[in-house]
Amino acid sequence: MMSGALRDEYRPGSKGIEQMNILAISGSLRAASSNTVLLRAMVNLVPDGVQISLYERLADIPPFNPDLDGDDVAEAVKDFRLQLQEADGVLISSPEYAHGVPGVLKNALDWDVSSGGLYRKPLALIYASPRGTYAQAALTEILNTMSARIVPEASATIELMGKKPDEINAYLSTPEMTAILVGAIEIFISAIQTLCTTQASLN
Ligand SMILES: Cc1cc2nc3c(=O)[nH]c(=O)nc-3n(C[C@H](O)[C@H](O)[C@H](O)COP(=O)(O)O)c2cc1C
Repeated sequence: MMSGALRDEYRPGSKGIEQMNILAISGSLRAASSNTVLLRAMVNLVPDGVQISLYERLADIPPFNPDLDGDDVAEAVKDFRLQLQEADGVLISSPEYAHGVPGVLKNALDWDVSSGGLYRKPLALIYASPRGTYAQAALTEILNTMSARIVPEASATIELMGKKPDEINAYLSTPEMTAILVGAIEIFISAIQTLCTTQASLN
C-alpha cells in the first residue's frame, strides 16, 4: 500500500518528487508558538514540486471518545483523517507540557488510530527546544505504535524556546539555520521517495 498522493501519482523514476505533499502539524495552539513558526518557516524552504501544508484545525477536533469512533465522526475529525491519508509525509513539531505530549495533539492522534492514516506514513519530528525529552520519547512511542515510519535522519532540533516570532524568523533566516532546515527537508523528501519505491516493489 502506497501512501497518499504518491499512491496514485508517484511512479519511481518517472515523476520524481512531483506533487509531493507534506502535512505539518504543530502541537501548540499558542498564537506565538515557536513550534508553529518553525513549521511555517519550513513551508517556504521546499523545492519545486513539493508542498508543505500547515495543519491549522487541531483546536477543532473534539475529545476522543471510542463510542463516537467510526466513519460517521465530526467533520473536523474527517478532515484531519483525510489530510493525513492524502499526505505523502508528515512533519510534527511539538512542545512538551508537564513531561508529556500536549493533550490536543495526543487527542487528534487518538482519532487516527482506527482509521490508520499514519500507517506506514513517513514522518519527521522537528524540535523547537532540546529540553522536551519526555514528550519526544512519548511521541516517538505513540507514533511507532501507530506504525508511522519515523525518519530519524530528517529530525532537527533548534533552540527557539522563549523567542518571539519575529526573533525566530530572523534567526531561522540566517544561512546556518536555513541550511539545517533545508538539509532536514531534503533528507525527508529523499526518505519519502525511498520508502514509496520500496513499498511499491513489495506490492
Ligand atoms: C503548562 C506548561 C507546561 C510545560 N511543561 C514543560 C515541561 O514539562 N518540559 C519542558 O521542557 N517545557 C515545558 N513547558 C515549556 C514549553 O514546552 C515551551 O515553552 C515550548 O517552547 C512552548 O512551545 P510553543 O512556543 O510552540 O508554544 C511547559 C509549558 C507550559 C505552558
